[in-house]
Amino acid sequence: MKKIICSALLVSCMVFAMTACGSKKAAKTGGDAKSGNITVGFSQVGAESDWRTANSTSMKETFSEKNGYTLIFDDAQQKQENQIKAIRNFIQQEVDYIVLAPVTETGWDTVLKEAKDAGIPVIIVDRMVKVSDDSLYTAWVGSNFELEGKKAAAWLKAYLDKTGRGDEEINIVDIQGTIGASAQIGRTKGLEDACKENKNWNLLAKETGEFTQSKGQEVMESLLKKHKDDIDVVYCENDNEAFGAIDAITAAGKTVGTGKDDILVMSFDSTKTGLTDVKDGKIILDTECNPLHGPRVEEIIKALENGETPEKQQYVDEEIFAAVKDVESVNADGKDYDVTVVDDKVIKGRAY
Ligand code: AHR
Repeated sequence: MKKIICSALLVSCMVFAMTACGSKKAAKTGGDAKSGNITVGFSQVGAESDWRTANSTSMKETFSEKNGYTLIFDDAQQKQENQIKAIRNFIQQEVDYIVLAPVTETGWDTVLKEAKDAGIPVIIVDRMVKVSDDSLYTAWVGSNFELEGKKAAAWLKAYLDKTGRGDEEINIVDIQGTIGASAQIGRTKGLEDACKENKNWNLLAKETGEFTQSKGQEVMESLLKKHKDDIDVVYCENDNEAFGAIDAITAAGKTVGTGKDDILVMSFDSTKTGLTDVKDGKIILDTECNPLHGPRVEEIIKALENGETPEKQQYVDEEIFAAVKDVESVNADGKDYDVTVVDDKVIKGRAY
């Protein structure tokens, strides 16, 4: 009788444990089977920008022990080979989920196939991957980078028209992001398409600033030497490049702003520091790219844990911030977007 009661108790305990943790984890031998936490391996691009730091913080805060996760965070230092290595390590460690913020779009087929064969769902975040088979990843959440570029170009057009410069020859230089990254591809395309449409816009140069302040400064220094007094607009593909470009412009004895001889600085990200430069009139337009992806990725993981199918691709809503009030809204892809003029309240309310 004693034996029967003991076995019944043992079976109930096992059933309870399996229900509480989900049968998948009860059967797991690797990952963090001991704590019962959900293990997430996150391959982050690097720490090249303020945006990236905010993105890493969002992921770390969301996938914390207190929230029931064990996060394995890997900083790839902007190198795809490091990301591939990290993913292989995650597979070996039998993590429950792999989250990848890819440095560039291509080159992922083999390693994502390895993750798929190991039965580990892969969630892509921020930039996109271009793979031959979409089933190699489970879901993606990030920005519509081409739309960001279109919004920025639409604002420039409206601003020049409004300020009586619509027919002037406008010389533009593009400090691009990391070549091959979705953020670079989309933002560059937005500008290039606008230059084709506006015959008086001359794209004097495009060169990568690798999304960093130091490279942004270096590129701007060389562009100023090459194009002397000809540059009207510098289109920086993120805030850190804009900070570097502004330093280079002022060091060369030139000015940024909206005056006749000033260089107009455009940027992307809308970090707190970026928006402070907008408020101070150094950056004329900052098109938002939202880095707070932690909760969004968690929603996808929760859906998967509940046996649901998350949306395959989700775009994040993003705003536009300007230093001046000449343009109230812009139209891109048939939709109107309000432009917010930056003041102290906007900066105070900024989370990153
Ligand atoms: O992919 C998003 C881009 O990457 C952000 O604009 C930039 O700051 C980051 O490094």
